Amino acid sequence: MKTDVAYNQLVDMERRQEANRKAQINCRCAIALVTVAVVLLAATALYIVLTLRVSSSHPAPSSSLHPPRRESCSDPCKIVLVESIPEGLEFNSSTTHPTIFKAWLNLMGEARSSIDIASFYWSLTNKDTGTHEPTANQGETILNTLADLSGKLSVRIAVNTPQGSQPQGDLRLLNNSGADIRTVNMKELTSGVLHTKFWVVDKKHIYIGSANMDWRSLTQVKELGAVVYNCSCLAADLGKIFEAYWLLGDSESIPSPWPSSFATLYNKDTPLQLPLNSTPSSVYLSSSPPSFCAAGRTPDLQSILSVMEDAESFIYIAVMNYLPTMEFSHPKRYWADIDTQLRRVGYEKRVKVRLLISCWASTKPVMFSFLKSLASVYDPKSGLDIQVRLFVVPASPKQKEIPFARVNHNKYMVTDKIAYIGTSNWSGDYFVSTAGSALVVNQTASVSPEPTVQSQLRAVFERDWDSNYSTPVAQHFNHKHLC
Ligand SMILES: *[C@@H]1O[C@H](CO)[C@@H](O)[C@H](O)[C@H]1NC(C)=O
Ligand SMILES: *[C@@H]1O[C@H](CO)[C@@H](O)[C@H](O)[C@H]1NC(C)=O
Ligand SMILES: *[C@@H]1O[C@H](CO)[C@@H](O)[C@H](O)[C@H]1NC(C)=O
Ligand SMILES: *[C@@H]1O[C@H](CO)[C@@H](O)[C@H](O)[C@H]1NC(C)=O
Ligand SMILES: *[C@@H]1O[C@H](CO)[C@@H](O)[C@H](O)[C@H]1NC(C)=O
Ligand SMILES: *[C@@H]1O[C@H](CO)[C@@H](O)[C@H](O)[C@H]1NC(C)=O
Repeated sequence: MKTDVAYNQLVDMERRQEANRKAQINCRCAIALVTVAVVLLAATALYIVLTLRVSSSHPAPSSSLHPPRRESCSDPCKIVLVESIPEGLEFNSSTTHPTIFKAWLNLMGEARSSIDIASFYWSLTNKDTGTHEPTANQGETILNTLADLSGKLSVRIAVNTPQGSQPQGDLRLLNNSGADIRTVNMKELTSGVLHTKFWVVDKKHIYIGSANMDWRSLTQVKELGAVVYNCSCLAADLGKIFEAYWLLGDSESIPSPWPSSFATLYNKDTPLQLPLNSTPSSVYLSSSPPSFCAAGRTPDLQSILSVMEDAESFIYIAVMNYLPTMEFSHPKRYWADIDTQLRRVGYEKRVKVRLLISCWASTKPVMFSFLKSLASVYDPKSGLDIQVRLFVVPASPKQKEIPFARVNHNKYMVTDKIAYIGTSNWSGDYFVSTAGSALVVNQTASVSPEPTVQSQLRAVFERDWDSNYSTPVAQHFNHKHLC
């Protein structure tokens, strides 16, 4: 996972990204013109349609030749938050959600024609980890079910090019079973990794979230994601991000600009309007790194900063790692875009900020220094209210033997307005060189009695924040005793 990025490479990368951004701005102007033209055309078409008294049908699925017209979506989209709660963890709370294991099984059960999976690495069996854990059975079930389907329908897997010691047994099995696999050489392309984790099924259902294709992500690591069923408009848009990885799997360079078939009209400024659980919602998907964003796509960092900017009363964040640095760069580099935004909105808008960060044996000690600094922005008398807690997943002696497990791996943010469900750790690398993506849901206009995604995510955060697995970061706090 460590990547060595030389300083001048980084500077170079940033320059290229700046150029890309400018190109994107130009593209956006072009799109605006095209949109005007399309609207005129659409009006003409509508006139003809009305004249002929032909009733218009379902919104056209996005064609690969033309960017979709921006219109609302009438699919009966159903969104469900899903979680993996590690073995033995118990909350004194009624907030529970279906498991990610169940969600993946459901998705495979629904699949009729295709399953596309974007993934970091595959390690779904005891064999891969050299363990004898009964709790690996869920991962093994997922792998076997997917292998069965691979012979029957189109199964495509985009995966980060496996590095040296990474297990490859699962990928070999799937390949031999008929799945189509492409490895994306992120190390060469961006000096990063493909860290995204999502599924697109039948171009209709999607899953996105923190869980890797790893048996531990189902039973030994705490994860959060979302499944959206019966939602071809959103699935078509996530499909474009998948197609970008798919193309890169066969390519040694990143297209610039991206062909128009990868462009989207759904972003932070013009989100997709659709009903989610019968509640009017606006939704978009963000992506990183910026060089992977075709015209119209909001880069993941811009998405995070704008969600924070839009908050009026609170911002709750649950991420595994939080660092105002480039975690994997040599020489060291400071990277404070997110950190500065939090302090700024905390100060200027008196927004209440809560960060729930993970603490485990592999946490880098420097993270605690930066978290203490952030937590010191607390003085209720002056309206400063930033608080930080560390979440520890306890482990029995037996559980301690499972490598890289027993940790809170969540990557989400919830504000008084928005639910943001992502796949990235929060340090600079994940927004500059690593491929990740996020689902951003806005249901502020909701008048429906159904709980919004935002309120469900808030309840998850509050359950974890108030649980006895979380501990405030204090100035003299010593993490060695905690994790
Ligand atoms: C569980 O929560 C209820 C209601 O919040 C509280 O009364 C009870 O004491 C809690 N139990 C434990 C074991 O913390
Ligand atoms: C899949 O199998 C084919 C044929 O056996 C082989 O050429 C290809 O390299 C394999 N792909 C992966 C990703 O293992
Ligand atoms: C998706 O739509 C189908 C057909 O209308 C329906 O049978 C199914 O229950 C829906 N799935 C979900 C999860 O709502
Ligand atoms: C998040 O960061 C940790 C620690 O650096 C790393 O081990 C992990 O691979 C990263 N991402 C994932 C898998 O979400
Ligand atoms: C959320 O939606 C409301 C109402 O549709 C809109 O006013 C607001 O700007 C949106 N917020 C964001 C961050 O998109
Ligand atoms: C949390 O509380 C429960 C019930 O009171 C207790 O059994 C458990 O050991 C506690 N966990 C921790 C990490 O303190």
